[in-house]
Amino acid sequence: MPEEPPAPQPPAPAQPAESVRPLERGLAVLRALAAHPGHAGEAGGASALRAGDLVKATGLARSTVDRVVATLVRLGQLRQQGQDIRLALPLMDLGNAYLAARGPTRAMTARTARLADDLDESVSLAVPDGDGVRFVAQATRRRTMSAAFRVGDLLPAERCAPGALFAAAWDDAQWESRRARAATDPLHHGFPALAPLTEPEPEAAFAARVAGARADGHALDDQLIEPGLVAVSVPVRAADGGLLCALSVVSHTSRHTADSLAELVLPRLRTEAEHLAAELAAPPPQSPAGPDTSGPSADAAKSELGPGFLQSLARGLTVLRALGGAREGLALTALADATGLPRATARRCLHTLVQEGYAEHTGRVYRPLPRVLELGYARLSALTFAEIAEPHLAQLAGDLHESASVSVLDGTDILYVARVAPARIMTVHITRGTRFPAYTTSMGRVLLAGLPAQERARILAAAPPQARTRHTVTSVDRLTALVETVAAQGYAEVDQELEVGLRAVAVPLRDAQGRVVAALNAARHFTTPGEPAPQDPLPALRATAAAIEEDLYRATRFNDVRVP
Ligand code: PHB
Repeated sequence: MPEEPPAPQPPAPAQPAESVRPLERGLAVLRALAAHPGHAGEAGGASALRAGDLVKATGLARSTVDRVVATLVRLGQLRQQGQDIRLALPLMDLGNAYLAARGPTRAMTARTARLADDLDESVSLAVPDGDGVRFVAQATRRRTMSAAFRVGDLLPAERCAPGALFAAAWDDAQWESRRARAATDPLHHGFPALAPLTEPEPEAAFAARVAGARADGHALDDQLIEPGLVAVSVPVRAADGGLLCALSVVSHTSRHTADSLAELVLPRLRTEAEHLAAELAAPPPQSPAGPDTSGPSADAAKSELGPGFLQSLARGLTVLRALGGAREGLALTALADATGLPRATARRCLHTLVQEGYAEHTGRVYRPLPRVLELGYARLSALTFAEIAEPHLAQLAGDLHESASVSVLDGTDILYVARVAPARIMTVHITRGTRFPAYTTSMGRVLLAGLPAQERARILAAAPPQARTRHTVTSVDRLTALVETVAAQGYAEVDQELEVGLRAVAVPLRDAQGRVVAALNAARHFTTPGEPAPQDPLPALRATAAAIEEDLYRATRFNDVRVP
């Protein structure tokens, strides 16, 4: 979100830096994966492409695609299963860096959410991105009968309310770029978040909406996106009048016309826009975490993959993540220090990122641009909790040869939200959506251990456990004590209380605030009574829980993730 009106182009650097080709190629591969729907994947969301598809989409040689993909897989930015290549959750660190540096502050996100609650309609914040509109915050009401856009989604300016506001400030070059796009893609096939038009809209219609937005100081979307969807947007402006972002309320024709929505919400929207501008101008309440220079060590990967590893691609992504370190931007020296890269290397990476439209260089500092979000952010932010957990469950199930599941508490039951079972485990018929009484299961005991004692007692009183096997613990006192032990030791082990021969061990999954939001377990079916487990599943369970928590943190920093 810009804190100042669009700055004039920076002067050309004294000595032109050279671009980093592997970084350019890596970015091209990520864009291709983000833009193409791909073959239907087993778990929705991030669908897969194959190396051949990437060759077609990027024009790169097959050997180059293979090296880029191997490097990005090693860096955890892509996942590869057989021939299928998918975006991986850690890639969200790039978009999170942009949002940390330039996106809405926590106070702004909270204000947006409050407004959505008060109006009981979806509310969003969007910024200009070239001749498009990029969403940077979404507070979604589920009942909105419409496509809900995700943080990172891009719309053409002419298809939504914020676009008319942004275009009111366009220069000739921006109009020219929109015209060029309209000539090559009149129906908006290049915008994966939208259903394409059936016929092109005449330019005059858009020009009239822009003139209206300029005159009224707000803009309407009367079913530009799809039948039924209406929206009204107002600009959020800096003290000097510069456009920072657009604040929008979205509704449905079953509740409002575009005009009746505007009449109802405009006064409130204008007040909120002023508060948002003030919040953006005020120093952020919490200082950002500092540059994110995490990620696998490029040096270790280099020695592992040898010449197949593109170190300069790894370094370029490290620089892009580091740009999230400060809202006021970072100078070359600070970026070189933060990343541990030589100045000349950092400078070449930055030059490439500026050339590719992912960063800007104003005054002495570099800052990320909204286009960073095109690198898979919207796709990954659409993943559900189950889709985030599943790759980790598959890994765990494969390592332990046991089934791996994630559940949440639902009333007095646990509800399975994700499960992966090795093929040989056939005896227990558990799928997503299965329920069991919480007190009889390892995951349930972990979830109960995460609650205050009073709440645990209430659940136990509401549904006293019934014996399911001769091992089932049904005594209230013993169950209370067992859950206390689970809380103290951080895991639960349940032996044949649910089904004879079934043993399970569970650990909690916590959110960034440390609250237990779900439980993860590994379950094993024994054929011989008393058969010992071949290995203690706890270390692998804990490592998997940490990996899921890390991905959840990435996915929820600037988004809601749907559970289940
Ligand atoms: C949205 O927030 O989803 C949104 C905003 C403005 C529009 C359409 C949709 O015109």
